[in-house]
Amino acid sequence: MNGLRIYVSGDAAAAAVGADDVAAAIATAARRTGLPVDIVRNGSRGLHWLEPMVEVATAQGRIAYGPVSVSDAVSVLEAAAADGGAHPLRLGKPEDIPYLKNQTRLTFGRCGIVDPRSLADYCAHGGYKGLARALQMQAAAVVDEITRSGLRGRGGAGFPTGIKWKTVAETAADQKYIVCNADEGDSGTFADRMIMEGDPFALIEGMTIAGIAVGATRGYVYVRSEYPHAIAALNEAISAARRGGMLGNGIAGSSHAFDLEVRVGAGAYVCGEETALLDSLEGKRGQVRAKPPLPAHKGLFGKPTVINNVLSLATVPIILEKGAAFYNDFGMGRSRGTMPIQLAGNIKYPGLYETAFGVTLGELVEQIGGGTATGRPVRAVQVGGPLGAYFPRALFGLPFDYEAFAKADGLIGHGGVVVFDDTVDMARQARFAMEFCAIESCGKCTPCRIGSTRGVEVIDRIVANCDRAANTALLEDLCNTMKFGSLCALGGFTPYPVMSALTHFPEDFGAPPHLAAAE
Ligand SMILES: Cc1cc2nc3c(=O)[nH]c(=O)nc-3n(C[C@H](O)[C@H](O)[C@H](O)COP(=O)(O)O)c2cc1C
Ligand code: SF4
Repeated sequence: MNGLRIYVSGDAAAAAVGADDVAAAIATAARRTGLPVDIVRNGSRGLHWLEPMVEVATAQGRIAYGPVSVSDAVSVLEAAAADGGAHPLRLGKPEDIPYLKNQTRLTFGRCGIVDPRSLADYCAHGGYKGLARALQMQAAAVVDEITRSGLRGRGGAGFPTGIKWKTVAETAADQKYIVCNADEGDSGTFADRMIMEGDPFALIEGMTIAGIAVGATRGYVYVRSEYPHAIAALNEAISAARRGGMLGNGIAGSSHAFDLEVRVGAGAYVCGEETALLDSLEGKRGQVRAKPPLPAHKGLFGKPTVINNVLSLATVPIILEKGAAFYNDFGMGRSRGTMPIQLAGNIKYPGLYETAFGVTLGELVEQIGGGTATGRPVRAVQVGGPLGAYFPRALFGLPFDYEAFAKADGLIGHGGVVVFDDTVDMARQARFAMEFCAIESCGKCTPCRIGSTRGVEVIDRIVANCDRAANTALLEDLCNTMKFGSLCALGGFTPYPVMSALTHFPEDFGAPPHLAAAE
């Protein structure tokens, strides 16, 4: 079709604020006026406060309008038809909006730009160049490229991806698997979903490269059931890749075979833990497995398995396309490359912000995120999901770096940043962390299964001023037992939000501020 090309995000976050209705209203208005339009439901640019964002392709590039409501559809269409003309909601070129302009988009380079359903559009925007290069290389050289890039797992643990791949590559077996962890259970995170909805071929290409590198011919994407848009987009893209000869036997005309399927999780936080995920994929109740054996040696159905997060795998194509040195050039210390950071909670400019490691927490929250949405002072920021620490403003100088966060008794996790204003009650947040652990515990080990329930009770006693000093000491003791005695990070990391709340905000637990300062 050669009509006016209009982009309305089909991303779940945009749909939640009316993008589907806006797309329908634009289509109706175009029909009425006889204007031929071609509406593309692309991914989101990740500027969530501007959704639904509508873009029109013009001779000078794309021009954006937003946030567009149904009642604006007719006037926005008129302005768009006038070569991206004036309108009160006109934002100009999206890439000139400072929030987007100041980012370094490597993993998200195509998200919000391409048509997620079109293999041809993906290829027209540099897609499958990474695979083409990988196919020219020895498998071990592909693994080496990933190792030298410095890429670390974006699912939470930050484990070097190249080392994981090397272990699988060097383990002999008749069958190996690539499993993509798309359970994305962390609070305030949505980057995996955005990639799957906005640039699903990047994930497919990354998994295909992983398969070639380690000798795996089958892959599974384990997606949480709460992501129906992502599941639909992935399934469509997988079918298109198969039709286009990029999945199946003889991928891209080579002698390699690789195919993959989507599997839908039933909704348990612990099923994001890699071994519980494997149990769930095998049709069992998702329970954590003791290690060893590592999944790299005995994973899915007892076979060597690479398990990587969506972002880790979706970053692989650009590393192969541009080379390890290009990617490794970004970042600080041992945190190389870029991190797609998700700004959420009580924040003025929520969204996806991909940038090189090293940006400070304060820059992210106050400058880029614009402070709180309520306009009240920021009091606490939780980074890294429900198992991440709460940081006070005093730690806003902390750079986004795995080691710096670990040193401050926190974690980067999957890059979720959730902001709270000065009305937050940190004792309630600590209690919530213990309660969350109690509800989501898989029950396999005692410190987590029993400790989390006892933890809720101890926090209640502290807040009720019942033997406060003794119960505070008991809480610290309990947290140490959970930290060092739990089988997985659900029980092992719950002490981070609890202890950080107690350490940085003792006044919320009933301690007078002057005593709190002395502690
Ligand atoms: C309780 C728990 C939940 C987790 N949830 C997720 C998740 O939703 N997505 C994810 O990628 N990793 C999650 N992880 C981390 C995985 O166990 C694993 O480290 C990751 O999938 C490895 O991929 P990566 O190396 O690419 O990060 C979770 C870990 C724990 C302990
Ligand atoms: S720490 Fe909790 S979730 Fe992890 S294995 Fe033990 S009981 Fe299961």
